[in-house]
Amino acid sequence: MPGFEFIGEEERRQVQEVIDSGVLMRYGFDGARNGQWKCRELEQQLAARFEVRHAHVCSSGTAALTTALAACGIGAGDEVILPPFTFVADLETVLFAGAVPVFAEIDETLCLDPTSVAKAVTPKTKAVLVVHMCGAMAKIDALLEICRTHRLTLIEDAAQAAGATFRGRMLGTFGRAGCLSFDYVKTMTCGEGGAVLTDDNDVYRLAQAYTDHGHDHLGADRGADGHPHIGLNFRLSELHAAVGVAQLSRLDHILDVQRRHKAVLKDGLAGLRSLEFRALPDPAGDSATFLSFLLPTENEARLAAKALSEAGVDGCFYWYDNNWHYHRKWDHIKSLASPGRLAIDRFGYGAELPKFHLPQSDAIMGRTISMLIKLRWTQQQVSDRLARMKSVLA
Ligand SMILES: Cc1ncc(COP(=O)(O)O)c(C=O)c1O
Repeated sequence: MPGFEFIGEEERRQVQEVIDSGVLMRYGFDGARNGQWKCRELEQQLAARFEVRHAHVCSSGTAALTTALAACGIGAGDEVILPPFTFVADLETVLFAGAVPVFAEIDETLCLDPTSVAKAVTPKTKAVLVVHMCGAMAKIDALLEICRTHRLTLIEDAAQAAGATFRGRMLGTFGRAGCLSFDYVKTMTCGEGGAVLTDDNDVYRLAQAYTDHGHDHLGADRGADGHPHIGLNFRLSELHAAVGVAQLSRLDHILDVQRRHKAVLKDGLAGLRSLEFRALPDPAGDSATFLSFLLPTENEARLAAKALSEAGVDGCFYWYDNNWHYHRKWDHIKSLASPGRLAIDRFGYGAELPKFHLPQSDAIMGRTISMLIKLRWTQQQVSDRLARMKSVLA
């Protein structure tokens, strides 16, 4: 995703302000920093832009997920329902929490299928981790309803969907906690970074302490802070936050460019009988970071992905064979391979992991190709791309 395409003068200016102050850490050094708090500034701006009570920035999207799970009280032995089309981080963070990942199927939204989620609920289920993949939304209203009915915690991973909305509300703000990533290949980037979004004061209080070794951050003297619980160091540096402040100011422009490019390609391909587009519960809210489409069969999709690449149409992902985003190639996770033994291995509740059979997800992902939408394409390049895609896909 394309935030990095727009790194420029504003990012340089923001970072220079931090360098000039000499204070690179987000906490303490009050006198030296001359009133400059870039992490706080980014948090205030994120909270305003996402219309949420609290945004807490941290060192990565993975750290945000880890923090959100902890702050929502997800721990040893708790079952967490999540999709098999996601990023390995979601699974890893559930495992490191000592919790038990349970896969439910995806549907044509490329996100969790509410019907399958409802079937996967057991007395041990504590949370549903919804991942809004490839720039757009899951059926978040139906998933929320299931969570309400079964008294489950909904956590959203909106790492790939910054700026996308469902019926006007930002993705990442429906659940008890929502997570963003600002790594180098996200819609907006800090180089590395992430955020937890929440309206829940308790989740926020726990999250901000968890990302800083449990510091309660109540007093002016960091050395005298209380530690109500343990945590880790997931702090974001002021340098990273400075880049984030600049990038957030570009978010609307990024979304606008993506949406314009995608509309040209989607409209141009719409007549082809050989493909159908990913289902979007609210097309107006798509952040348009990807154009995802389904071919009639797995074989045709695999051939099309190869042919598109050979025709010079770059940035087309055939996720089914990808070892970061789809469960088929996650043998290291299913076998709980880890330098040190994981709690879920020790206590024997990871045994089901290799046994998941997900025919509905396989049937959908086997047919799906997602193409990246880039920001710096000229109109001519978009038209050329469309022409090549049409000739391959027809
Ligand atoms: C869906 C999803 N969740 C979480 C992450 C993890 O984010 P980070 O790389 O910032 O740790 C990613 C990163 O690619 C992602 O795509």
